[in-house]
This record gives sequence, C-alpha cells and structure tokens, in this order.
Amino acid sequence: MNIGNAGIRLLKDIAESGMRVKVRTTLNPGYAELSGERGECSPAILDKQREIAQYFIKMGVHPTFSCTPYLEQNVPKRGEHMAWAESSAVLYSNSVIGAWTNKESGIGALAAGIIGATSRTGVHTSEGRRPRLLVEYEGEVEDEVAAGALGYVVGERSEDDIPLIESEGLLSKERVIEYLAAQGTSGASPMSIIRGMTPLAIRGPPDGLRKSRILEQDVLRVLEGLQNTYSPEAILIGCPHMPYASVRGLLSIMSGRPPLPVFAFVSRRTKTRLAKAGLLAKLRSLGINVIADACVMWCGLKKLGYRSVVTNSVKGAHYLRNQMRVDAGLAPLSKLFREQP
Ligand code: F3S
Repeated sequence: MNIGNAGIRLLKDIAESGMRVKVRTTLNPGYAELSGERGECSPAILDKQREIAQYFIKMGVHPTFSCTPYLEQNVPKRGEHMAWAESSAVLYSNSVIGAWTNKESGIGALAAGIIGATSRTGVHTSEGRRPRLLVEYEGEVEDEVAAGALGYVVGERSEDDIPLIESEGLLSKERVIEYLAAQGTSGASPMSIIRGMTPLAIRGPPDGLRKSRILEQDVLRVLEGLQNTYSPEAILIGCPHMPYASVRGLLSIMSGRPPLPVFAFVSRRTKTRLAKAGLLAKLRSLGINVIADACVMWCGLKKLGYRSVVTNSVKGAHYLRNQMRVDAGLAPLSKLFREQP
C-alpha cells in the first residue's frame, strides 16, 4: 500500500548489500499483524509484509512496528538530533520532548540510520525552530477529538511555518498527541510551539510573526467534514498507537460491553505485555480486539468488510477516508464506549 514492489526490491538490495544501521533505529507500523493470527490479511499481503520486516531486521532495525516509539521503545532525549519519518512522532518529539528532527521521508530516515547522521537543516538549527505564525485561538479544547480538529486547522494555516499557540486545553498528553498528529496530517511543519509545554518556548509575544485567528467555527468545520454518512460498524482507537497504560485504562472507563466491535492499535511490545498480564483475553471477551504491528489503515478492515467506522483520531479519520475509502467519523473515547455513536 505504501512502498509497493519497487520499494520491496530497494529494501532487498540494501539489506543484501550488507549495509547496517549505525544508530538505534526503530520501525513504523505496517499494514498487517505479522503473526497473521486473525487471518485478517490475504497470504500474499502477509508474505510481503514479512519480507519487508525481514529486510529491515537484516539491516539491524528494531522491529518495533510502532508510531509512538517516543513513549516507550525509542524515547528521545531533549536536545537529541534524530531523523524520523512518522509525522506524528516527529511533531511530538520536537514540540513536547524538545528533541530535534525534521520530517523525513522513509528512505531519508533509513539513509540517516545507515550513515548515523542527518543534515543540519530545518529544525536541527536554532533559527529553523523559530515560530513564524502566531495562532490566536480562544475556544475550548474539550477532548482529544477537539484537539485533533484544532491541530488540523493549525496545520492548514501554518503550511511549513512553525506555529506558536497557547491553549490550556492542549496541556494534556492525550490531547496534545492528537493535536500534533492532526497538524502533521494537514501541514508540513515539523512542530508546534505550545506555550507551557514546548521546552525553551519563547517568552512574551515575539515580534514580526504572521498572525492567524482560529475561531470555534473553523474547528467545527473540520468536525462536520468528518461525520459518518452511514451507521458505524466498528470502533477504531490507537491512532497514534496506544501505550500499555491507556489500553489497560479502557477497562476502568467501560461500563459494560462496547456497542460495537473495538479494534485497538498498539505496538508488538504492548500487546505482549497485555498478554503477560492476562489482559488480552479479558479485553477480547469484552469485544476489544488488540491489533499489533499495524497502522489503523489495516488490511483487516477490508477483509471484515467494514464500510463505516468511528474513531477518536482526526488523523485516523482523514486517512481512513482518503486512502482506505472507508466512511470514518469521530467521537471522543469517553463517548465511544458509552453510547451508540
Ligand atoms: Fe500511527 Fe497509522 Fe495513525 S502510523 S499515527 S496509526 S495513521
């Protein structure tokens, strides 16, 4: 779906040439769960996914299959220079942790891993981390869906300029993850400067910035454009991937079986931890399917024939609609499990 057969041939050539990564390098999610345990993918797709994984492993890449490595498996340090290709992880690392990475292409990130260096351009320089756009937003950010919708508008307005924003509602981990994932979906900038959160945020009103006022109706426009046309048949959560604590936390917010089958996307490590803690079977008995290795754009959606789904991720809804051609709508986690969306 992403690199095609030509990309597989390129990875094969690199792996067979003997080149290896020089620095810790971790892998983004793919299209399928490699164990194939649910039989959700065609054997041909599964074979190609396994082939891709095998080439990366041969190059010394850690097979984490996660888009939130910054939470548990490849946690950057403040001030560390990196070359990452998953946009939501790039934006989180720059904006929240204070690590430094441009938004790389997959092949650019792999090349950086192999040579152990990246170019001193963009946000790897202090000048490149200066905000160019002052976002004025006085509306509420009530939940992670509203945060995602705000991020989407900020991405559209900022294009490749770094925005500076102040909003109390963004100062929570769940919300800022969805805000930054959505900003990276609609815009090219690799970070936001969020007052009260971004390390070394600029104090006082910086001069000479382009200004953009965002109204609540701009955020509502995004939400209205991502409403279900049909009744949803499944709930998708974990875009970006959910960490262990969040999946475990589902058990405490549930007041019975969810109204629809749930698919929660996580890294392989998180799924293994859930299994060891005896939680995987419990979640499954409640109708929550935990999917490892895969992006929310998951081959199983086609096999299961879902025409309409609901998610708490603006980024997820955007890609499910535009790349998977699925009718994807939005609702915050607190509502997804309590009422029929
Ligand atoms: Fe992760 Fe895929 Fe969403 S890579 S951020 S689950 S679109």
